[in-house]
Amino acid sequence: MCGIVGYLGPREAYPIIIEGLKRLEYRGYDSAGIALFDGNDLKVSKTKGKVADLEARSEKEITKHGSVGIGHTRWATHGVPNDVNSHPHISNSGELVIIHNGIIENYESLKKELISRGYTFQSDTDTEVLVNLIEDVKKQEKVKLGKAVQIALNQVIGAYAIAVFDKNKPEEIVIARLGSPLAIGIGEDEFFIASDASPFLEYTKDAIYLEDEEMAIIRFHKGIKIRKIKDDSLVDPYIQKLQLNLEEIEKSGYDHFMLKEIHEQPKAITDTYRGRLLRHEAIIKMAGVEDNMKKFLNADRIIIVACGTSWHAGLVAEYIFEDLARVPVEVEYASEFRYRNPIITEKDVLIAISQSGETADTLAAIKLAKSKGAFVFGVCNVVGSSIARETDAGAYTHAGPEIGVASTKAFTTQITVLTLMALRLARAKGAISSSDFRNHLLELEMIPKKVEESLKSEAHIKMIADAYKDSHNCLYLGRGFNFPVALEGALKLKEISYIHAEGYPAAEMKHGPIALIDENMPVIVIATKKGHYEKVVSNIQEIKSRKGKIIGIVTQGDVQVKELADHVIEIPETLESLSPLLTTIPLQLLSYHIAVMLGKNVDQPRNLAKSVTVE
Ligand code: M6R
Repeated sequence: MCGIVGYLGPREAYPIIIEGLKRLEYRGYDSAGIALFDGNDLKVSKTKGKVADLEARSEKEITKHGSVGIGHTRWATHGVPNDVNSHPHISNSGELVIIHNGIIENYESLKKELISRGYTFQSDTDTEVLVNLIEDVKKQEKVKLGKAVQIALNQVIGAYAIAVFDKNKPEEIVIARLGSPLAIGIGEDEFFIASDASPFLEYTKDAIYLEDEEMAIIRFHKGIKIRKIKDDSLVDPYIQKLQLNLEEIEKSGYDHFMLKEIHEQPKAITDTYRGRLLRHEAIIKMAGVEDNMKKFLNADRIIIVACGTSWHAGLVAEYIFEDLARVPVEVEYASEFRYRNPIITEKDVLIAISQSGETADTLAAIKLAKSKGAFVFGVCNVVGSSIARETDAGAYTHAGPEIGVASTKAFTTQITVLTLMALRLARAKGAISSSDFRNHLLELEMIPKKVEESLKSEAHIKMIADAYKDSHNCLYLGRGFNFPVALEGALKLKEISYIHAEGYPAAEMKHGPIALIDENMPVIVIATKKGHYEKVVSNIQEIKSRKGKIIGIVTQGDVQVKELADHVIEIPETLESLSPLLTTIPLQLLSYHIAVMLGKNVDQPRNLAKSVTVE
């Protein structure tokens, strides 16, 4: 969780690194720093705060010249966010400079050892320990930087993506990865280093993604050597052509990435089913599923692992798979699953869902399931991500880059992929009739249009947001397929507006949460026509008789809830199993507008980061 950028070549490194850090700020934004070699010496500027604060500070502090440099935007793990703990960190001799994304778990014992040998430390970070460990190895073993990095990393337990250089040999940058992503952009006699490709998209479309346990020595005029950290063997670099465009990672006139991404959902969903949902032929084509159909058909059960919003998509999928494909599904928080000694057999299929494809807990859950012989299928958005590579097969969501920290289009496209999978499986098992299958295809194909229609309620939702923005608590209720949407709605509100919110199955309310209801409690109830409508109406009556404020998410033309609720937001009618793709939209918009009205930083909420590559 931290963003890394580096440059080595003929251009001025400063603007490339600063712009790159701004694009990576979604990965962490509590401090930032840069180190440049200006032709004579190392210049470092770093500060608590955002990249904009770094720009202001470096303006006064450094000359900003130099064609070798590294920069960092931080999400604090070890040590509070302050100037001293910000990266880059410099070794005791002042010669080596490093940036790091990850956690060195055994840093305390390494630090003690280094202190006993006379090293001193300014910061509380594990990273400062690592740079001094590399320096110590370099001196003790009398080896070059690359070798020193390799030896040092073999003593380290934890996760890292690092970039390090020596001010006495500034024509070379050494990078390495284990558990945190790292890409190299290859231009004409110039090299870019970054946590993802966005910082170098306008310079080159050729990229190498380092694999775990690989390191690269990048030399100006000489090129790149990639080696395995453990056994020193050389690796043939695989250069990928990036498909990503610059426009996809810009706000395109929207005030925030989150709003842009909410509005991109019709396109994202269409892109996700394009080429897979073939309505006229009445088939679903998904190579990853097709090629492994036996595994799916023979599975005793499907286990879904994920975190956060992706976990909510997994919960929706549980309802869909069980309803359509009649296969038992268990949905697990990856962080719990990996540590609770779960029973996994070769007859299990594990589906891992992750937007970033880098979430540490999900990745660990995959490795655990694989080690027990389960077949592992990935549903990821980021192409070439660690999870996409680690899984046996998979299906991408094609949502395009999601930059706002609050997940929106990732959620709806994950549900789209999972629905396609469930339908494909249902067909293969004969669990769905041909007419029902065709009807699902037709309805799913119409979802993007219906999302567009749902987005038209934005002005009305803004008025509701204004009425409830000062609330301290909020309840979200839903049943069946829409219970996970209630959880997701609550997560959206709390993560960007910092208003406490809880999601519950509507019927659970009377087992406790109803005690919270009074005239100050807004309750958002998903009460669409299909799916326990009458029962949800009864729940609404229970809330109303306790003076709670009701915001109903209802099907167009609804009469009953309209009479009871303080406000209603209408969505078009669809099949019950597809309704989460629509009911989610107003909840995203409501959270977004409340957070904006409260003056919160919607795209970069406090304490969060987009991809959680630490435990
Ligand atoms: O990249 P992933 O989908 O694996 O991320 C999982 C969660 O960290 C993520 O969904 C998080 O909960 C978001 N902030 C939710 O908006």
